[in-house]
Amino acid sequence: AQLQDLAGEKVKAAKNMSFVFDIDGVLVHGDRLIPEGRRALQILNGDNELGIKIPHIFLTNGSGKPEQPRCDQLSKILGVPISTEQFIQSHTPMQALSEYYNTVLVVGGEGYKCREVAELYGFKDIVVPNDIIAWDETIAPFRKFTAEERATSRPRDFSRMNIDAILVFSDSRDFATDLQIIMDLLQSENGRFGTRAKDPVSQRIPIYFSQGDLLCPSEHPYPRMSQGAFRIGLEAMYKALTGEDLERVVYGKPELATYKYADEVITNWMNVIHNEEKLPEHIYMVGDNPASDIVGGNSYGWNTCLVRTGVFQGGENDEENPANFGVFRNVLEAVKTAISKEL
Ligand code: G3P
Ligand code: MG
Repeated sequence: AQLQDLAGEKVKAAKNMSFVFDIDGVLVHGDRLIPEGRRALQILNGDNELGIKIPHIFLTNGSGKPEQPRCDQLSKILGVPISTEQFIQSHTPMQALSEYYNTVLVVGGEGYKCREVAELYGFKDIVVPNDIIAWDETIAPFRKFTAEERATSRPRDFSRMNIDAILVFSDSRDFATDLQIIMDLLQSENGRFGTRAKDPVSQRIPIYFSQGDLLCPSEHPYPRMSQGAFRIGLEAMYKALTGEDLERVVYGKPELATYKYADEVITNWMNVIHNEEKLPEHIYMVGDNPASDIVGGNSYGWNTCLVRTGVFQGGENDEENPANFGVFRNVLEAVKTAISKEL
């Protein structure tokens, strides 16, 4: 009977903890598996002493394609099923904005993939920068607009309609064109091309960014500039040209709104796997980037685990944003240590 009690206690503890995984630098590098990631997820999917599922979700600043194909791709690399119901990428929480804005400019990403993402999020009327260039090429004087791009764009008369908000979903593939178009809209009267606002602040349409990372690791020896660097460039240009500060909203880690959204996703996922709609008390964030994963987790009251397989290259712990649960060689070590503390 005592043994049974003990097992019961452990089951309770397993349902009262949850993991939140960063993806890039923790589980994969681009399309390449970090081998310990697969084992860590197998353990949480039930290959453990209790044979029980330990709740876990994925929280990435990645972007640029719909949730379903991204989860399919990750499932394939990691060799475990990953559901969209346990998955948050940088622009996922932005779907809530579809209730507030009718016509939106969606910026960033490859080809027209972010248009597709916005359609899936329920936005009714979606414009991308290429639609605007196809209408008036003089807007982007340095851009070489190809016949194929023209054929796949959806030009309209943008001087006769208003764009209600600007949503930067992913990395700009053409800073010059995207910055010019965004600046035109921010200085226009309520988002109408061909106008200039009389009052630059009250007539300015809002702008949202899906994440704030300045840099992102790549094949190149030094990290490459990411969406945060694009935003800072835009803010400086806006200030220099208008004299005003640009008000903006940023999503993604380490922004508070994204962590609140993660709580909702964990609660819902608990319901999916254990039929209990409750938020586990002990949450472990496993990340590789002190400036996003760890600082955000620390200030949200989560246990933070920093791994050495990604951005972090330092000594014992990060000096500015130390992980409060510890630094680990890899994700498997972090998961095993957290489980043995809780169970
Ligand atoms: O910077 C964008 C992306 O590469 C970061 O992904 O999973 O480390 O948040 P992740
Ligand atoms: Mg990462």
